[in-house]
Amino acid sequence: MKLLIPGVSGLLGINLAQETMSEYEVVGIERGKLQNAPFDVIHQDLSDALAIEKILDSQKPNYVINCVALANLEDCEDNPDLAKQMNIDLPRQIARACKAKNIPFVHISTDAVFDGEKDEFYTEEDKPNPLSVYAKTKLDGEWAVLTENPEALVARVNFYGWSLNGKRSLAEFFYNNLTNNKSMSGFTDVLFCPMLVNDTARLLIKMLKKELKGLYHVVGPQAMSKYQFGVEIARKFHLKESEITPKSVSFSGLSPSVPTTYPSLPASYPQI
Ligand SMILES: NC(=O)c1ccc[n+]([C@@H]2O[C@H](COP(=O)([O-])OP(=O)(O)OC[C@H]3O[C@@H](n4cnc5c(N)ncnc54)[C@H](OP(=O)(O)O)[C@@H]3O)[C@@H](O)[C@H]2O)c1
Repeated sequence: MKLLIPGVSGLLGINLAQETMSEYEVVGIERGKLQNAPFDVIHQDLSDALAIEKILDSQKPNYVINCVALANLEDCEDNPDLAKQMNIDLPRQIARACKAKNIPFVHISTDAVFDGEKDEFYTEEDKPNPLSVYAKTKLDGEWAVLTENPEALVARVNFYGWSLNGKRSLAEFFYNNLTNNKSMSGFTDVLFCPMLVNDTARLLIKMLKKELKGLYHVVGPQAMSKYQFGVEIARKFHLKESEITPKSVSFSGLSPSVPTTYPSLPASYPQI
């Protein structure tokens, strides 16, 4: 069975490919970073609106999991048109094409569609209130996908793990600073439910096999602050947790939509 992964060079994409390549014939799409990957790679910039349709026609995948996004919050603020293109228009286009070709489709969204004001776990029934261009375009992307293709699965995630450039995830931020003896701060009042990206990848495949459709929150079972997360990383790798200073976002002068944070406290854990 062939699994097509647009965005295979990203934090989720590369781990998804690695987790699935023993079971699936993985074909990744990316823009040229990946050389000598142990799976097939198509080098393609997907801002070319016709490209994805052509790839679907030539590859004829059995499944598609879209990991492409403009996921850097500052880039989205600086370039809202590109954010719209990658986070709304492209997912809509893939969703439409997958529906027409009867290919099961998974699209990845984010817990950042919420504003983080709720004191309890968010559920799929809660009303989103996105605060940044990134979050707004991701939310609109969800609706675009599910409107075009109600059979699609949209997973709101939050994950950490090892990325290709070693700088993509919050875990890497803490790990890199701690191993270089650099001190840093961690917010005590920004909560999230992180999941190891390898677990996210395996869970997405389970959901695909169960033929789930619609909107799901796919996050870790435990809520914790960014500070606590940093401390856990320090402990795991026997590094100095005292290098991490607890800090409140409310006293930092930053609003919760600030690019360094995913501001929400997600989410219910799907029972699979
Ligand atoms: N990281 C998190 O904790 C987190 C949290 C919540 C939700 N998410 C969501 O999870 C998904 C994956 O995120 P991630 O962290 O893996 O993102 P990422 O590391 O930034 O990867 C994004 C991927 O999209 C590709 N891409 C961007 N523009 C492209 C274009 N014009 N043509 C072709 N490919 C393009 C990138 O390719 P290049 O390598 O060439 O740039 C990369 O492969 C996204 O939908 C994101 O919104 C992530």
